[in-house]
Amino acid sequence: MTLARLVTEGRVQAGVDLSGLTTYRLGGPAAFLLDAATSDDLIAVAAVLAEETREVLVLGRGSNLVISEAGFDGLAIRLGPEFGGIELDAGARVTVGGIVPLPQVARTATAAGRRGLEFLIGVPGSAGGGVRQNAGCFGTEMVDVLESAVVFDLLTGKTAAVDAFALDMTYRHTSVTATDVVLSATFRAGEGDPAPGLELIREHTRWRRLYQPGGTLNAGSVFKNPPGDSAGRIIDSLGLKGLRIGGAEVSAKHANFFVAMPGTEPSHVYLLVKKVAAIVGSETGIQLEPEIQFVGHFENAEK
Ligand code: EPU
Repeated sequence: MTLARLVTEGRVQAGVDLSGLTTYRLGGPAAFLLDAATSDDLIAVAAVLAEETREVLVLGRGSNLVISEAGFDGLAIRLGPEFGGIELDAGARVTVGGIVPLPQVARTATAAGRRGLEFLIGVPGSAGGGVRQNAGCFGTEMVDVLESAVVFDLLTGKTAAVDAFALDMTYRHTSVTATDVVLSATFRAGEGDPAPGLELIREHTRWRRLYQPGGTLNAGSVFKNPPGDSAGRIIDSLGLKGLRIGGAEVSAKHANFFVAMPGTEPSHVYLLVKKVAAIVGSETGIQLEPEIQFVGHFENAEK
């Protein structure tokens, strides 16, 4: 079996525009796209990948992603609605499908009297993406609430339930790889009155409206924070708010958000990231590391 054959059978699509699947709304097509309705679709594709070498890109909510103009010459994988459930388990656990938006986890769990997941209102990604990246907000990270995850390995075709402690979760890092698909995540929550939890969510939302450029096209924090400091504070202190390449601009509201104005090309974002990192490096000696993921070919992007 080949990917081309799966295309003929209608199980995989060819040449699919990915821009609409990213929060930046940028980028070209994927050579192939699998919309996985069930684990069987993933198993079929894993069998093909064992014989046909292809890069894979597991898509979540696209909230941390910049895809190049020319697109992605591999297989993009998107989980379907079957991976979108939220279950309130006994013992105050909350189990969610990999594609569920984390803000939805915050709202649903809190309203149902599960406490401790309110911070997820500030993490725009999917549960799967959030687990892979150990996403966090308001001083809490996934590692603080994740009990376990179910992970499908595209290299072996096997599914495993993995305890969170085995995922090597540190700041914006885990051992989940690009060929792992997080099918579900189980969070530990407490039980309690929904009202203060919902108030906390409203407070978090107000804070984000004040300090982050909501309502613009962006991909959240561009750089990871260096130890003991904040990338946004450093970039701001160098007077780089408003710096622009093409349509990509360092947000005037928060300097670690780069906003895509009309006319932005993916390479503009890439070049702005390079430029800001270079200025920060030469002015402070700090090497900022991108948190957002660049997919496709960027190295020859013209200035
Ligand atoms: N600051 C400035 N100028 C700016 C931006 C920030 O001086 O333009 C200062 C702030 O005043 C504050 C400090 O820098 O004293 C830290 O800023 P902030 O509280 O906004 O937090 P952050 O470190 O920039 C982190 C996460 C965010 C998360 C917020 C809130 C990272 C890379 N970012 O941002 O996560 O929403 O804390 O908890 O860890 C994301 O990962 O995509 C993301 C948005």
